Amino acid sequence: MLTVALPKGRVAEDSLSIFEKIFDKKFVFEDRKLILECEPFRFLLVRNQDVPMYVLHQAADLGIVGLDVLEEHNLDLVKLLDLGIGKCKVCVGIKEDEELDYNKPSLKIASKMENIARNYFLKKAVAVDVVKLYGSIELAPLVGLCDGIVDIVETGSTMKQNGLKVVEEIMSSSAHLIANKNSFIEKKEEILDLYHKISKFI
Ligand code: PRP
Repeated sequence: MLTVALPKGRVAEDSLSIFEKIFDKKFVFEDRKLILECEPFRFLLVRNQDVPMYVLHQAADLGIVGLDVLEEHNLDLVKLLDLGIGKCKVCVGIKEDEELDYNKPSLKIASKMENIARNYFLKKAVAVDVVKLYGSIELAPLVGLCDGIVDIVETGSTMKQNGLKVVEEIMSSSAHLIANKNSFIEKKEEILDLYHKISKFI
């Protein structure tokens, strides 16, 4: 049996529908349950940012998670396949009527993705003070908490409706199938079989 950690929400739904089509059976979580056992899989429903931890500690053999989350955590995992779902971009956003002022001694940037934000500005040789937030990032520049944000943009509606604009794109992201290194050795046949089935499908 393979244990697969899925990120709660749209990507979990889209992932399960890929599995349903490939295996021609229904994979549906009951009400508030977080585990779904349905041979040959055990699916776990976890927070998006937590998927790599479940896989790293081998609580799950496989996981489905955005490239942005993998980039942020930079862990020793096997990256198997781009599923082409959950597409989004990681962008720098600021207030619509402002410009990012690179002449400041240091930029203050709010983000859920501390490492991506810090590395991006450090690569440009710009001093940065990253304020770690856990959600509603778009609010931060509006109330003077920061000069700008580094956040996920999918449709762009959240930035737009909050009077922000994208000024720089850092990376594109989509959901990837990942594996634990030991599971990849111990369950190689099962994992590769699944890999080939999904590759043919997407
Ligand atoms: C994400 C992201 C943006 C929004 C972008 O937040 O942090 O706020 O989605 O989507 P859009 O471009 O389609 O508007 P999420 O919904 O995960 O909520 P959060 O702020 O609680 O993290």
